[in-house]
Amino acid sequence: MPETYPASPDFIANAHADADTYERMYAQSVSDPEGFWGEHGKRIDWIKPYTVVKNTSFAPGNVDIKWFEDGTLNVAANCVDRHLAERADQVAIIWEPDSPEEEAKHITYRELHAEVCKMANIYKDLGVGKGDRVVLYMPMIPEAAYAMLACARIGAIHSIVFAGFSADALGARINGSDAKLLVTADYAPRGGRSTPLKSNADAALLNVFHDCKMLVVKRTGGQTTWTEDRDFDYNALRETASAECAAEEMAAEDPLFILYTSGSTGQPKGVVHSTGGYLVFASMTHQYTFDYHDGDIFWCTADVGWVTGHSYIVYGPLVNGATTLMFEGVPTYPDASRFWQVCEKHRVNQFYTAPTAIRALMGQGDDYVKGSDLSSIRLLGTVGEPINPEAWNWYNDVVGGGRCPIVDTWWQTETGGHLITPLPGAIPTKPGSATKPFFGVQPVILEPTSGEEIHDTAAEGVLCIKDSWPAQMRTVWGDHARFEKTYFADYKGYYFTGDGCRRDEDGYYWITGRVDDVINVSGHRMGTAEVESALVAHVKVAEAAVVGYPHDIKGQGIYAYVTLMNGESPSEELRKELEVWVRTEIGPIAKPDLIQWAPGLPKTRSGKIMRRILRKIAEDDFGALGDTSTLADPSVVDDLIENRMNKL
Ligand code: WT7
Repeated sequence: MPETYPASPDFIANAHADADTYERMYAQSVSDPEGFWGEHGKRIDWIKPYTVVKNTSFAPGNVDIKWFEDGTLNVAANCVDRHLAERADQVAIIWEPDSPEEEAKHITYRELHAEVCKMANIYKDLGVGKGDRVVLYMPMIPEAAYAMLACARIGAIHSIVFAGFSADALGARINGSDAKLLVTADYAPRGGRSTPLKSNADAALLNVFHDCKMLVVKRTGGQTTWTEDRDFDYNALRETASAECAAEEMAAEDPLFILYTSGSTGQPKGVVHSTGGYLVFASMTHQYTFDYHDGDIFWCTADVGWVTGHSYIVYGPLVNGATTLMFEGVPTYPDASRFWQVCEKHRVNQFYTAPTAIRALMGQGDDYVKGSDLSSIRLLGTVGEPINPEAWNWYNDVVGGGRCPIVDTWWQTETGGHLITPLPGAIPTKPGSATKPFFGVQPVILEPTSGEEIHDTAAEGVLCIKDSWPAQMRTVWGDHARFEKTYFADYKGYYFTGDGCRRDEDGYYWITGRVDDVINVSGHRMGTAEVESALVAHVKVAEAAVVGYPHDIKGQGIYAYVTLMNGESPSEELRKELEVWVRTEIGPIAKPDLIQWAPGLPKTRSGKIMRRILRKIAEDDFGALGDTSTLADPSVVDDLIENRMNKL
């Protein structure tokens, strides 16, 4: 029986929700979703109020999700303009640069308004309008937030590509959404190094055959090359751009953004999020999960290139009128005290990061934490992967001083916001458990093969969600059939998360990890199929199979079995070459941690690779290979084990 950790009486007394409030609100949210969301939808400003709250179907062949469908609104007006009356001079964004030597910036809501309008006017001058797609490939600088909100202001749809992705990956996403404009910067400083974003963007556009302009923000002033009539200088255009721009009236169901994410098959898919439902849910989760109060300084350490950055650096905090901290750097530069120094410097109240960062910092020792005054922190959060009890305890004791509730938030790119998470004043936590569902969320555990719902409180199986919530993704960009097939085909009538899960006797949920061919590397999602297709695109590679394996810091590492073309032989040089190859095809986050040369791969007689066996070998778990008698050639397994034992 794991220990439970309730928040302090003081915390509970001041919290937005205590246990009774949570129970009452949760019960209403599932018994009367229309009534509940009809009421809470009013937390944002509507131009034309909605009369229809929920119109959703998970029915096979007819998956259709609409919330607040007849309402109209503008997201940028909600995140910026509506705060001007009360908090124009309050800081909206604190920007902390990569290097502590460089000065932080404080952008007030008034300044944010002017900047967003200017950027929006620049977009318009470049021919971007309502419904057009704009790809952002940006460092973590305030202009990234301006660029997002400027899209929202004019009704353009942004698609952010994480700045760690390669030129090839960027090009594919520009093509995938037929983007009219690419917004980037000259360079992205990070951890003392600098990524040449503009030159990556140049390379990406070599593979784009429709008309796509480029708007370039100056970050370092480093050298770039310029293509006349295609490339535009943001800093120059900003000088003359007007600081007023009307906000477009958008329908609740108009897409707000596209964000590509990996799945178990094929290339990444463009997850489409809505305008109204997404914003309501981002607002509500930000307030309740983090127990955000007016005046708090909120810091989410994610990058805006991931959904966490969308919902909890930009949209959630800003729609709530918060001060959100945006950090350009990494946890360990210049040294492992960086996060804590930033918390001290800006008096951070809520701190939200990934278990992988906690593990990495824990490994550096407590002294890096103890040198900073962390007394402003009231709440800690984690996201992206399960947190192991050791890291949880360190986070709780050393960082939180035992005073701060830890919210372990389970959600996905597809869910738009938190689905399973403690509300800190209401739900005592257990290390490693995401605890209980957020308002309106009905998790169910299904028996994996029969698809039957398990009704016992204590249960284990696959995690599905029974009914829609406002921030649910609406479709896959340009491929609604793929949306239905990926999420609604395996278990009819449910949204399938791809995660395995256990529910304990107290009704707490424990995510056990992906049950599909998706791996979680440092809290980032990677499709094994994607890495495999990058590997086999190399001329010397005949075949590749990729699996995850336990990694101390990253949670999971990328393990690649590679079969070479006839006549090629393994070498250290080739190993390096393949690593570089994958970096160029996808980006540094996809680089295999281990490559094992495999003369053959275990296949069934029908030619299907038996990944179960490859996973076990990668885990050094040779005793549990199970039945190998259905393999076409069982002896390949012995070879693989022998090579694995010889340390590859
Ligand atoms: C997958 C989604 C949601 C933003 C970050 C990742 C895993 C996420 C947790 C958690 C255990 C978690 C799941 C999920 N995951 N949060 N608190 N505990 N696992 O978004 O890239 O869409 O990945 O991350 O496996 O399916 P994503």
